[in-house]
Order: sequence, then structure tokens, then C-alpha cells
Amino acid sequence: MKHFLDIDQPSATDLAGIIRHARSMKSARLGRARGVRDSAQPLSGRLVALVFEKPSTRTRVSFDTGVRQLGGEVMTLSGAETQLGRGESSADTARVLSRYVDMIVIRTHRERNLLELAEHATVPVINGLTDNTHPCQVMGDVMTFEEHRGPIANRRVAWFGDGNNVCSSFLHAAGQFGFSITLACPEPYRPGEEYVAYARSMGAAVTLATDPQVAAEGADLVVTDAWLSMHDTEDLRNEKRECLGAFQVNDQIMAAATENAIFMHCLPAYRGEEVTSAVLDGPKSVVFDEAENRLHIQKAIMRYCLEV
Ligand code: CP
Repeated sequence: MKHFLDIDQPSATDLAGIIRHARSMKSARLGRARGVRDSAQPLSGRLVALVFEKPSTRTRVSFDTGVRQLGGEVMTLSGAETQLGRGESSADTARVLSRYVDMIVIRTHRERNLLELAEHATVPVINGLTDNTHPCQVMGDVMTFEEHRGPIANRRVAWFGDGNNVCSSFLHAAGQFGFSITLACPEPYRPGEEYVAYARSMGAAVTLATDPQVAAEGADLVVTDAWLSMHDTEDLRNEKRECLGAFQVNDQIMAAATENAIFMHCLPAYRGEEVTSAVLDGPKSVVFDEAENRLHIQKAIMRYCLEV
């Protein structure tokens, strides 16, 4: 049984295969309405549970759409409407759901909830985001970069702002896909040292930058994310605004990157905070391709997990 818990776990060959498969499924659907099923129906007769203990637009809708396009059925559960919200353990939830469904996608708070669920489930588990990582997002981002600019290996990524869960998954991806990454994050908001150490242990160059303008120089891909993560409390908002303000992605930052650089943001975006509207809506932005590719990459991840 294969789970998809983090980008550091599958082999680099498997990750590249998932991206190839996603691109071929995307091409096969060109011109087809979203509600039309794929010609192949590998999830026919399968039921997927989507468990969301945090809000979601893209992850929830793209998994739901993807399961339907592959011929499967889906049920979406919020933490509050299950016993998870009243303290039932992830282990018992895993044992129970495994008796009903064929695969579990979960968005949860702590990584240990995900790991406990995966340890006790007898069906594949996919990480739909934890406080620590967001692997489906970054797989979609790598796919999107390669669609626009070719192989990401040996290219340079510059991350701006909060070193959050998406940033940590970018560090996993740097190790697996072989790109260098510059982290333009103020010291209190750098990603966990274990993610930096992982990328370096895999041979990826990781630079910790303090000057955002210098960090952008030579970047092929500029990425940022909302300053306030879902697990942050509202009282952090002002402190984060103050600390991260100098790391906003704006026209000056994009001008310092390579001429062909593209801009990514996993969305939702807070215009005027981490990124200006001019960049988000500008010619270098590929944010809606990124959002679309969540659908295609997750279909490939589900098929990888179920081996169908
Ligand atoms: N990027 C992302 O995961 O979006 P949602 O929170 O809307 O799922």
C-alpha cells in the first residue's frame, strides 16, 4: 500500500512519473468540459473520503472533481462534523474509515495526526496539508514550472516571506528534483532547520538571504504565500506584517529576477500584503495554471497510491 505523505518519501523516479502522468491526463482532457469523465475510469467502484479539519477551496474542489473524472465516488467530511472534532484519535478514525472507503485524503493540523492516521489505515492516505507541509501543492507547482519553462532541475527558486508549510515542501522538492532555493525569510520566519538540512543532504543548494532584492537575482521562479497561515492566530497579524513587509513580492523583486522568471502563489492571496496586484495579475504570473494543475497532479497521485 502506498501513501502520499510528503515529497521526501517517494523515489525521485516515482515523483517524475507522477508529473508525467498528470501532464498526459491533462492533455487527454483538452477541450473537454470539466464534468465529463475521463475515457479511462480507474477509480470506478472506489470511494474516497476527503477529511478537512481546516478550510479549503482548491484542495477540496480539485480532489472532488478529480475523483469524479476518474469514475470514483467521493464524500467530504469536516473535522467538526466527525468525532475527530470531539477528540476521537486519528488511529481509531483510520481503522474505522478503512472499513468503509478505499482512500483517505486529509487536511489536518499537526503532522503527527497525519502520521498516526497513515500508520493505522489499511487504505492509502494522502496529505492534503498539515501545519508542516503541503506536498500536493508543490507537486502541482513543479508540474506548472515545467509546463512553462522546461525541467526544473538546476534552476533557481526564490521563496519570499513566511517559511511556512508550502516552503517546507519546496525544500523537499529541491532535494528530490535537484533545484537550488534561496529563502528570503526574516530569521523568525525561516522554515524548520530539518527541511533545510534535508534539501542540503540531497545536494540542493539552499541560501538563506536577508536582502530580498539580492535574493531575487538570478531566480527562475519567484514564490510567496500568505503571511498568516491557517494555524496562526489573528494576534500575529500585525507582528507578521511588520516583520515580513520588506519581503513583499512586487515589480522591483520581479525585475531583479531573470528575464524569463515566472511568479507562483498557491492562493488564496492577500493583495497588497505578500504580493502586489500588479505581480499577481501580471504577465509573469502563472497562479491560475497552478490552481488548475492541482486537479491533474492529484489525479496522478491518487492513481499512484491505488496503483491503477
Ligand atoms: N492552495 C491551497 O491549498 O488552497 P486551499 O486552501 O483553498 O485548498
